[in-house]
Amino acid sequence: MKVLSTAFFLILVLCLIFSVSFAAKQLPEERGKTLFNDPKAFGGSVSCASCHPDGKGLEKAGMKDKKEWTNPAGKFKSLEEAINACITMANKGKAIDVKSQEMKDMVAYIKSLGKGMKGKSPGY
Ligand code: HEC
Repeated sequence: MKVLSTAFFLILVLCLIFSVSFAAKQLPEERGKTLFNDPKAFGGSVSCASCHPDGKGLEKAGMKDKKEWTNPAGKFKSLEEAINACITMANKGKAIDVKSQEMKDMVAYIKSLGKGMKGKSPGY
């Protein structure tokens, strides 16, 4: 009986470890989506999704041939700068390092919005 319950306990622990490591293996675009929907993600008070619900309107923002991005703060030469401008001006948050994992995740999410659009190549 004791052997059985020990074995059961071990299996339970293994399952736990497995599910935790599985959860940590989120794709960058999934992490970006979580940030996009989180009002507190960048120290601000509104989420990106409150103005761009489900990323609508940003489908072309991650396209390879895109050269200029526009938002209410102005015109920008990179997607990262446009994201940071929306973070500071619209979300009232703090700009993030363009090389940070958070930025890579945001870019990955925005790129993923354009997938499946005809005649366009996502990939920025
Ligand atoms: C208060 C509203 C508001 C919030 C919040 C907001 N944006 Fe924007 N954003 C806009 C408007 C308006 C535009 C310009 C029109 C458009 O492209 O939809 C824009 C434009 C952009 C563009 C450029 C689109 C292009 O193709 O040129 C990107 C990228 C972008 N936003 C990303 C974000 C991200 C990421 C967040 C969260 C950090 C965010 N926005 C939060 C209002 C907002």
